[in-house]
Amino acid sequence: MPTTDVRKRVLYFVLFVGTLALILFLFPYAEDSIRSYLGERFNLVWQDGTFSGIDSAKVDPMIETSVNLLTIFLKILRVIIWMMLIVSVVRFVLFIFTRSISGKVSPGEVSSILQTVVSVVIYVVAFFVIFQSQFPTIQLAPIFTGSTIIGIVVGLALQDTLGNLFAGLALQADQPFQVGDFVMIPGRGEGVIEKVSWRGVTIRTSQNKLLVISNSVLGKDTIEVSPKNNLNAKSVFFNTLYTQSPAYTIQVVREAVRQVENVSRKMRPVVRIRNLAADGIDFEVKYWLDDYTRQHDTDALIRQRIWYVFKREGIEFAYPTRTIYTEEKVEQAAPEEIINMITERLNQVSIFSPLADDEIERLANATTTRVYAPDEPIVRTGQVGNSMFLIARGSVRVEIPDGAGRKPVGTLGPNEFFGEMSLLTGEPRSAHVVAVEETEVLRIDKNGLKPILEDNPSLVEAISEMIEERRASIQPTDDDLPDDAQPTKKRALVSIRRFFGLKK
Ligand code: CMP
Repeated sequence: MPTTDVRKRVLYFVLFVGTLALILFLFPYAEDSIRSYLGERFNLVWQDGTFSGIDSAKVDPMIETSVNLLTIFLKILRVIIWMMLIVSVVRFVLFIFTRSISGKVSPGEVSSILQTVVSVVIYVVAFFVIFQSQFPTIQLAPIFTGSTIIGIVVGLALQDTLGNLFAGLALQADQPFQVGDFVMIPGRGEGVIEKVSWRGVTIRTSQNKLLVISNSVLGKDTIEVSPKNNLNAKSVFFNTLYTQSPAYTIQVVREAVRQVENVSRKMRPVVRIRNLAADGIDFEVKYWLDDYTRQHDTDALIRQRIWYVFKREGIEFAYPTRTIYTEEKVEQAAPEEIINMITERLNQVSIFSPLADDEIERLANATTTRVYAPDEPIVRTGQVGNSMFLIARGSVRVEIPDGAGRKPVGTLGPNEFFGEMSLLTGEPRSAHVVAVEETEVLRIDKNGLKPILEDNPSLVEAISEMIEERRASIQPTDDDLPDDAQPTKKRALVSIRRFFGLKK
């Protein structure tokens, strides 16, 4: 409320209360004058709070009763003016109190229910005190406490009102929500709490309408509360065709969502696969909002960004259609472009440099491509290994057993190879190799490699050198070991020749 309004209110309060106080101050004098006038005029005497005739024979009983009624009316008037004064003061004090603390605490904490209860208690007590001072002979308490009939009548009449009041008090004690929180009440609506009163709760919906729900109804419903000061999360769903790489989709969508306004920087959005559905891969984006009340706008913006990022990255949404692939059960040779791609890759690997073009091509024909997801193991320690791998795209982490877990000993990237130890020596896999990101590898099998090794002794030597280097890094040399137990280039060479049955 602007300060000018506050000033106006203070001024009105001072004028109103001042007038009432003046009236109350002058009231006894006015009463005295009226009484003495009436006494003289009708020959009456004021005694023990009532008028009676000096000489009862000469006084008309009608006049005596009327004059007494007039004095009762004056007393009632005084009670009314006192009550007006008290109500004004209480309301003004509560107004000032609310204003002074609403800057420091959230408005929800200045409960209007509590204000109502406090003011009602003050009014009732004040009324008792003032009434008894004016009518000391009338006992109010027994009337209220003793009358069962009044109790039943009032109880029935106020059944709903009291129900709301008590439900409101229970809600207030529990404080499941506050002004400014976003709430969802199934079957009734959702929005931001604008007011909590003794009767009910007012919610502003996203259509800017007000939804008023009574406390007694609220007390029975299940309410989903997204507190104002909480980091509330939300999910948006989308899908892609099966031909799209999930790891790549997740990466680009996560980046796009992070940039959306109102998406909290405090938590990284989570993008995950929800379902492998009939039409495509279903994804979920879970994100946290700075301002939850703007959730629908933020959802819409996220969907829009997903569309644009898909457009840029060539990712396609899954249409609600079914793609039927008919496949001939004939063993097909790898398409030429794949062989060319593999040949190109193999040519870039240094250990294969001694190989002639036709040998590289032969090797390419015995090679297949495979894609692994981030954190997916490609080989596991202790497994029997019949193939080695060449990294075409992505990177891998080599991990060796360490107590109950594993520790990394190196990372390999494009054009580097792994899995050669087991393949060439016949020993179990010496380490775990795990994809760090989405990784595509070329897999070369023992049968494909054997003829190449037979014709290229220098290749066998180059590989055995690499094997020994790697062995040394995962099994440090033990000085106590006899010489023939020390890992040497020769040992690997001997095992390879033995395992592949090579003569040279
Ligand atoms: P292999 O034993 O068949 O399976 C695990 C593979 O991890 C192993 O072959 C090597 O290719 C690779 N490897 C083992 N130790 C290292 C290392 N220190 N650095 C790089 N790669 C390694």
